[in-house]
Amino acid sequence: MSDRFIVLHGRATSLVLERSGNTLLWRHWGARLADRVEMDPLVRPLPSFSLDHDMPLSVFPTFGIGWFGQSALLAHREGFDFAQEFTGCTVERTGTGEVRLKLSDAVARIEVAIKLVLDPATDVLTISSALANTGDASLDVQWLAAGCLPLPPLARSVRSWGGRHNNEFVECEDTLGGSMWRRENRRGLTSHEDFPGAVVLGDGGAAWGAQLAWSGNHAQIIEPLDDGRRQWQIGEWLAPGEVRLAPGETLNSPDVLATFSPEGTNGVAQNFHTAVRARMDWPGGKMRPRPVHLNTWEALYFNHNPDDLKSLADAAAAVGIERFVLDDGWFRGRNDDTSSLGDWTVNLLKYPQGLKPLADHVTALGMEFGLWVEPEMVNPDSELYRAHPDWALQIAGREQPTARNQLVLDMARPEVTDYLFEALSVLLTDLPISYLKWDHNRALAPAAGADGRSSYRKQVLGTYALLDRVRAAFPHVEIESCAGGGGRIDAGIATRTHRFWTSDNNDAVSRVVIQRGFLQFMPPELMGAHIGASPAHATGRRQSLDFRALVAMPGHLGVEMDPRTLDPAERDKLAGWISRYKDWREALHYGRTWAGQAPDSIHWQAQGDAGSLLLFVYRLDPATQRYTVDLPLPMLDPSRCYRVEGLFPKGAVSMFEGSWLIAGGLPMPDLKAERAAAFQIFAIDC
Ligand code: GLA
Repeated sequence: MSDRFIVLHGRATSLVLERSGNTLLWRHWGARLADRVEMDPLVRPLPSFSLDHDMPLSVFPTFGIGWFGQSALLAHREGFDFAQEFTGCTVERTGTGEVRLKLSDAVARIEVAIKLVLDPATDVLTISSALANTGDASLDVQWLAAGCLPLPPLARSVRSWGGRHNNEFVECEDTLGGSMWRRENRRGLTSHEDFPGAVVLGDGGAAWGAQLAWSGNHAQIIEPLDDGRRQWQIGEWLAPGEVRLAPGETLNSPDVLATFSPEGTNGVAQNFHTAVRARMDWPGGKMRPRPVHLNTWEALYFNHNPDDLKSLADAAAAVGIERFVLDDGWFRGRNDDTSSLGDWTVNLLKYPQGLKPLADHVTALGMEFGLWVEPEMVNPDSELYRAHPDWALQIAGREQPTARNQLVLDMARPEVTDYLFEALSVLLTDLPISYLKWDHNRALAPAAGADGRSSYRKQVLGTYALLDRVRAAFPHVEIESCAGGGGRIDAGIATRTHRFWTSDNNDAVSRVVIQRGFLQFMPPELMGAHIGASPAHATGRRQSLDFRALVAMPGHLGVEMDPRTLDPAERDKLAGWISRYKDWREALHYGRTWAGQAPDSIHWQAQGDAGSLLLFVYRLDPATQRYTVDLPLPMLDPSRCYRVEGLFPKGAVSMFEGSWLIAGGLPMPDLKAERAAAFQIFAIDC
C-alpha cells in the first residue's frame, strides 16, 4: 500500500485514512482488516447539483468551502475567516499505532494538530485535536471537535445515558434515522444528566463506543451524511465567547477514547475498562486490592460526636471495614447544609481536641482514615465568603442563584486555588489522612470569571490543576470523585482520582441499573458500591441484606449505614459478606466484565476471565414464567467444559459443556423478586 493510506490495526479493529490533497479522508473505522490492505483511492461519481469536486468525510471536516455537514471547527475573527480549508498537511508516524497530523490553513491562518493513537492491546483509539491561531488577530472559537469519527451505514441506533441525582445512568436508545442526533451538557461539570459518551449499535454484534475524557460541558453529534455513512463528533461544549485565542495561542481539546468491537456492548465495555485502567495513576504505581469502606454520611449525617464516632469505628472494624471515611459535618460551623463550606478547619465545638484523636483511633484499629471535602464550593454563610465575596463565580449586576445553599468558587483565580491547597495541605499534614472524598454538589450558574467572561472551561482546568497539585504533594493519598453521587464520572477526572461515588441512591434495585450504565464506560474497581440501610434512604424501599450485599459486591465495596443498628445475626451476616468480598476482590477487579439482561426480569453480570468467572444474577421483578428460565452464558469457550458451583444460595457443584452453557444456558434457582444468586464458574478439560 502506498503512502497515500494510513492504516492502523488493533486486535479486532482497524482504521484507514486516505491522504487526498491537503486533508485525510476517513475510509474505515471498524472491523479488523487484513494486515496488508489493498485499496484504491476513493473515486465516486459526482451526483447532480454538486460542487465539481468531491468532498468526502475527512478526519477534520471544516465549514465554508464545500463541506455542508457539521464542521469540526466553528471559529471566526470578528466575522472574518469563518470558512476554513487546509492548504498544508503533514503526516508523522510517531510510534506503533500512533500518527500525528498537522493541518494548516494559510488563508484563515490556523493550524490543527490531530493525534490518533490506536492501542493494539485495548482496541481503543485515543484522538485529540489542538487548534493554534497563527494569525495576527484573535480568533473566536465556538466549537472544536476533539474527535470526528466515521460510522458506516449499518450503524442502526445509539445508546446514551443520562438521569438525575439519585437516578444516574438511565439508558436511552435512539434509532439513527435521517436527522441529526445530538446530546449536550451545559451544567459545567460532567453531570448526572448527560454522560459524555455513547455506544452505537450495528448489525451482527458490531458496536462502536466513544467517551470524552473531560469533566465539564460537552456535546456529541451524530449526523447522517449523503453517502449513507454518519459522522460522530464529540468535544467540549463552549459557551458564547468562552474561547478567544490570541495570536500564537492554542486550544487543546480533551481526549476522546473511541473503540470498535465485534462483540457488542460488552466488547466495547471491556475495551474501555482496559484503556481507563491504563490511564490510572495509582499511589505507588499500582492498584492495591480495593479496601472496604465505611462512609459515615448515611450513618450519622451531620450529627458528629467524637465518642460516638469512635464507637462507630469500633463497630466498623469489628465487621471487617478497612477504610473509615468521615463525611460532611466535621468542619467549623457545619451543622447542616446551610453554612460553612470553605471553612476547612475542624469544628472545635464538636471536636474539642480536633480530629486527631478520632483519626488515631481509626488507624489504631487498623483502618485507613479518609475525609470528605468539597473544595470548589462556598456557602454565603461562611467566614471565607464574608472575607472574599468576589471569589465566587458571578456576573456583575446579576443574581447568584444558590443550589444546596452554596456558590461555586472561581477555580481560575490563583488566590482561590492557593487558599484551597493550603487548607487541604494543613489537613493532610496534621492528620493521618490517606483518602479524600472530593465532592461537588451543584451545577454552575452563572459561571463567569473575574473578567466577566464565561469560565466553564477554566473551572475544569483549575480543578484539575488543584487535584494535580494535591496529588504531587501528597502522593500516598487516594481521591474519590463525587458530585452528589454520580455527577462527575468521566475518563478525564479518572486520571487524577481513584474511585467514583456512583450514586447517592443505595437502593439495590436502583443500583443494578445505575451500575450497569457505569460499567459500560468504567471498570468495576472504580465503582463505589455500598451496602446501604433498609429501608433505603433515597427510595424508602426495603431489601434483604443478602440482596444489597450481592448488588454492591462486584464494585469497590463499602458500607453506608451504622452497623451498630443491626441485630447481632445481621451484623454477623454483614461481616460474612465483607469477608467474601475480600476473597473475591482479586477475581472481580482485574479481569473482564460481561453484563446482560435475560428474559423474565433477570439481570446478570460476570467478572473474571473466560477460564474462571464469578457470576451474579439479579431478579428485580417477580417472575412471570411458571418455570425458571436457563441463562445462556455467551462468553464461555464452546470447546471447554465448566464446573459451576452455587455460591449463594449455596448449591451443588455441576459440570456442563461450554457449548451447552452458551446455547442452552445455566439452570437458574427459583429467585423471588429482589433476590440475587452468585456462582463460581471454572473451565476444566472435557
Ligand atoms: C453529597 C454526596 C454524599 C454526601 C453529601 C454530604 O450529596 O454525594 O455522599 O457526601 O454530599 O453533604
